Amino acid sequence: MLLLAVVARAAEPEFTSFVALGAKGVPLVRVITRAATCPAIVVDGQSKPMTLRAPAETVPLRSTLSTPDKSKPSVFDVTTCEATLPIGTARASVLGRSLPVPKQRIDRIVVIGDTGCRLKGKDIQACNDPAAYPFAKTALQAAAWKPDLVLHVGDYHYRENACPASTPGCEGSPWGYGWDAWSADFFGPGAPLLKVAPMVMVRGNHENCFRAGQGWMRFMDPNPYGKDRDCNDPARDRAGDDSPVFAVPLGGGAQIAIMDLAFADEARPMDPKDPAAAPILAAYRAIDRLSRQASFTFLATHKPILGFSATEKKGERYLRPGNATMQSVFASLDPNILPSKIDVVLSGHYHVWEQVSFASNHPSQFVAGFSGTQEDIVPMPETLPADAFPAPGAKPRHFSSWVDGFGYMTMERRDTSHWDVKVWALDGRVVNTCKIAGRQSVCEKPQVRSEALR
Ligand SMILES: [Fe+2]
Repeated sequence: MLLLAVVARAAEPEFTSFVALGAKGVPLVRVITRAATCPAIVVDGQSKPMTLRAPAETVPLRSTLSTPDKSKPSVFDVTTCEATLPIGTARASVLGRSLPVPKQRIDRIVVIGDTGCRLKGKDIQACNDPAAYPFAKTALQAAAWKPDLVLHVGDYHYRENACPASTPGCEGSPWGYGWDAWSADFFGPGAPLLKVAPMVMVRGNHENCFRAGQGWMRFMDPNPYGKDRDCNDPARDRAGDDSPVFAVPLGGGAQIAIMDLAFADEARPMDPKDPAAAPILAAYRAIDRLSRQASFTFLATHKPILGFSATEKKGERYLRPGNATMQSVFASLDPNILPSKIDVVLSGHYHVWEQVSFASNHPSQFVAGFSGTQEDIVPMPETLPADAFPAPGAKPRHFSSWVDGFGYMTMERRDTSHWDVKVWALDGRVVNTCKIAGRQSVCEKPQVRSEALR
């Protein structure tokens, strides 16, 4: 009997499947398989073939953030298949596995971000130690909350360089930008979340073309795959790093607008007349237009526009403001930086959890980059100094943070513009709760102290 069971299991094709929501909430089904051809998809009882998005191939080495001696060609020994589901689809399955079709009204959202295991230069995380790299646990716990939607705010892939010889904790980890590293960093540990709910996937700077962009395009990008969107040729990186803004309706007058701009530099303002500012100006205009279509709009973008990060230099602690490039270019169109119909900005990139609301005319900002990647550990103050502004003119009203604790955030709808936020630690505890009311938000605790939780 045991032998039969093993044989039966081995005969099943190994594959990854997920549903990502694209423009207007259209469900995009993706299947990643070791088979050379695409399977059929069964949609409300009707079987139809899936379309080949990208064949298995090895992409020759291109220039990347890493030097050539720390790089290798990207081996994609898997086939990526795609299909679009009609809105309102009740049931869909691939190879007998049912797919999480979106509900018409999305009330329960999990937010995670920055989930890969860092292997880059001297920054080495113990990928094999679930306490040091807990994304698998994050995914299991967050899936058990039974979300209607999972929002990943970017930075999926971190295994860029080989685990150095004789470094404990990451031995044997795959690395580079091919499928094996993608599978270890995201699709393997994230599988429980991919199974339970459709995803909204935001691109992080780790998925820019000169990092893990090839995999992002092949597996996750919501746009058609092609020469300008495969990140294989560095000459086309500018096109590849520019993604159209889109919005996903949540039902009941709420929506999420998704903005890439992961290439925007943190610290350097940009002249809006610089040709490189064109996609940023276009993104502002797009979020302005899209935000007018709904009563309540979350803006999901990887790099915080109105958040703080903490840094330490020579024993002194500093708070750094939000993304300088986006702020400077957006401010050329709008002194308030963001359109008045954007209510809450959801980001990652800083490896902490954070909330900021404003006395000035700005949306709340949440940061949820705390779901697996090595954390930022410079403490944030319980109370912001009076001169702390994350952007020119943005005067904080409430500020809350949790530094050096892994977890995920949930948002549950009360009505269109009121959402209850919970911040979860991986032992199942809720460590903070916040209320979103339109553009305002406030949390029960101004600071969660990790040492108090241990
Ligand atoms: Fe990032």
